[in-house]
Amino acid sequence: MSSYIHIPETSSTNTYLSEINRLKEVEEGTVVYTDFQTAGKGQRGNTWEAEKCKNILFSIILRPNTIRADKQFIISQFVSLAIKDVLESYTGNISIKWPNDIYWKEKKICGILIENVLSGDKIQQSISGIGININQTHFSNNLSNPISLRQITGKEYDTTDILDKIINRILLYYKEIMTGQRENIISSYKSSLFRHKGYHLYDDGKNIFKARIKDIEDSGLLVLETENHIINKFAFKEIKYIL
Ligand code: BTN
Repeated sequence: MSSYIHIPETSSTNTYLSEINRLKEVEEGTVVYTDFQTAGKGQRGNTWEAEKCKNILFSIILRPNTIRADKQFIISQFVSLAIKDVLESYTGNISIKWPNDIYWKEKKICGILIENVLSGDKIQQSISGIGININQTHFSNNLSNPISLRQITGKEYDTTDILDKIINRILLYYKEIMTGQRENIISSYKSSLFRHKGYHLYDDGKNIFKARIKDIEDSGLLVLETENHIINKFAFKEIKYIL
């Protein structure tokens, strides 16, 4: 169900895929991957930096038109879970930092940028852009707390081999979602969360406080409970983890 397009260099695989699809609709499951991005896009308007030919940089297009717009967070959940599953076959200590970063211990190994196009209350198109640090050993921008698979294991990897496994896993979960099987994915996502146990420090822009993850709502809101049992819900931009 999937065809691969390799381009040696592009501004951003998300932008490229969205653009070729706009010109002539591509088959669902089409993957665009590249060796280098000149303007890789990250979350919160950040850039995504990755050295040439060392990492996995790709986007995949899906058309989950039976998923309601208010349930679009399920895409973040199954895409994150697919990547976590595959990376776990190379190393331990992989978790999902809500909403959809992949962490190794306290460091970020993968970032995901999902761009959905809505039509009424349905999702017409969803482009998931994924950057995974694989063979890179130096990072100039340490703000995002990066780490690569090679830094973890000391080994060098064939990036296309890992890419293949990830695509297969994403499509497997996608099939589950589209046939109405969501419970397993939702519960595996929750139990895979970074800091899903115990009390940790958070910053909501006004206060720094200690809380535990009580739940993740279907809408994607993070539900935190303080030690005094005060419960608050946060959207992605409203809260920061103190690492
Ligand atoms: C984040 O900020 O954590 C999200 C980073 C997403 C980066 C990937 S790399 C491939 C795809 N193309 C982009 O421009 N961004 C995503």
